[in-house]
Parts: sequence; structure tokens; C-alpha cells
Amino acid sequence: MNASATKLEGSIALVTGANRGLGKALVTALLQAGAGKVYAAARDEKQIEATSSRVVPLRLDVTKPEQIAAAASRAADVTLLINNAGTLSSFNVLTARQADIEADFRVQVHGTLNVIKAFVPVLERAEGGATIVNVLSLASLASVPGMGGYSASKAAAYSITQALRPELKKKGIEMLAALPGPIDTDMVKDLELPKNSAADTARQLVAGIARGDEEIFPDPMAQQMGALWRHDPKAFERAFASF
Ligand SMILES: NC(=O)c1ccc[n+]([C@@H]2O[C@H](COP(=O)([O-])OP(=O)(O)OC[C@H]3O[C@@H](n4cnc5c(N)ncnc54)[C@H](OP(=O)(O)O)[C@@H]3O)[C@@H](O)[C@H]2O)c1
Repeated sequence: MNASATKLEGSIALVTGANRGLGKALVTALLQAGAGKVYAAARDEKQIEATSSRVVPLRLDVTKPEQIAAAASRAADVTLLINNAGTLSSFNVLTARQADIEADFRVQVHGTLNVIKAFVPVLERAEGGATIVNVLSLASLASVPGMGGYSASKAAAYSITQALRPELKKKGIEMLAALPGPIDTDMVKDLELPKNSAADTARQLVAGIARGDEEIFPDPMAQQMGALWRHDPKAFERAFASF
């Protein structure tokens, strides 16, 4: 299913969790795609490398309401919001500590939603429309039991993405979901898995934004598993249950 295409040339983007991993690669990919300005948001904005005069470091912990409000007021010209910040704190749901499951939900679900709520008034003012992308995971579509708490938080974030899509469409804002497979970043550094590079995932993710894919599958594994999910969701669930 396709949303309207997003014009990246001259766009003004904001990426959360932009100091490392996929978020840092997304900043580079957006600049390469012609973004006019990229707010690179991070809990510690001093970690943002000034690679271009088009990069604006911004302090933003997505669990801190006062920082979210300050970011929406400072970055009042944003046309493309990418909710990339994420944590992997909770694993097996039977044995995970409640505090760790709550930590994943605090960032992935409440943090993402609160950032969106703060930026809707900014985005609906954008001439020619605006776009929000939630960086989710293939684990949004079926649980990886060894990461059951994380998967549940990503599934909840996908549900919120779907809930927001028609609401935001009325305001001229497209709502996209990015659903990557494993990426070679700190988050999964201890897991023995085939991983795609952050740079390639970011490039493919940005290409999906430009096309207006409602579900963006930004790497080869995601494309393969996304096709299985569309064709046979139970087979997809069984494949993930065996990871
Ligand atoms: N790596 C994978 O295999 C994979 C697969 C599918 C989806 N994803 C998703 O891709 C996104 C990026 O992950 P990654 O692989 O790049 O992980 P990463 O290398 O661990 O980076 C996570 C980023 O999120 C930031 N972050 C964490 N909590 C935050 C908070 N409360 N407020 C603001 N920023 C916060 C981190 O900032 P600090 O440096 O301050 O901690 C860091 O910049 C996440 O949403 C993740 O769930 C990753």
C-alpha cells in the first residue's frame, strides 16, 4: 500500500537517536538525498558530529516531556519526523524484569507517541504536506520469543502507527512504518546473526520514504520476510518462533 511520495530535496528532517547506529546513518542518507536541514536529535547532543552545515544538533530524550516540548518549539520548521530512538532492554517475557519491559515500552511506545503529539502542530503547518516515519522492526509483525518484551513494544508501536495513519492523513501528514531486519549496530552486537549495514539500511529506508511505502522493508531479509508476512502471516510467525 502506498502513501503519497515524500519530496526529500529541500525537506527539513528530524531524526531521534541520531548520535549512533541507524540514526546516525539516516542523517547521512537524508543529506545525500538532498534534505535542506537535518535536526540530529540525541540524549547527549554533544555526540552529534558536525559533518555538514545542514546538520543541527538537538537535545532530545524521548522519555522527557520538557525536552520534547523544547524540541518541538526549536525545530518548528520540520517536514519529516523520523522516530528512530529505541532500546533493547527486555528479552524472554517469562523471565524479564518488569522494569526492563517497561523501559522498552517507555521509549518505543510512549516516547514515540509523545514526540508525534508534540510535532503534529508543526507538521500540519508544512506547505505541501509532511511525513512521519516510525522505525519499528520485523518483530513488530510477529514476536521473536527470545526478545519477547522488545517485540511486544515494537508491536504496540506498530499498532499506534496504524491508529495514527487515518487521523494524520486528514491533517496532510503521511504515517509510514519502517520494518528492518537485523542491523549491524550496538543494539545487537552480541547476537550472532546475519546483519545488514546501518548505511545500506538507512539508504533503503530513505528510498522507501521517497516512494511513500506505508510499510518500508529496508534490507534484503526484511524484503524476503515482508513478502512472507503478506502471503502467509502464520508461516511468518512460525519462522520467527524458531529464532
Ligand atoms: N539493530 C537492529 O538489529 C534493529 C533491527 C530492527 C529495528 N531496529 C530499530 O532501529 C532503531 C535504531 O536502533 P539501532 O540499531 O541504531 O540501535 P543503537 O545503536 O542501540 O542506537 C539506539 C539509539 O537510540 C537512542 N536512544 C535510546 N533511548 C533513547 C531515549 N530515551 N531518548 C532518545 N534517544 C534514545 C540511543 O541514544 P544513546 O546513545 O543516548 O543511548 C541511540 O542513539 C531502534 O528503534 C531499533 O529498535 C534495530
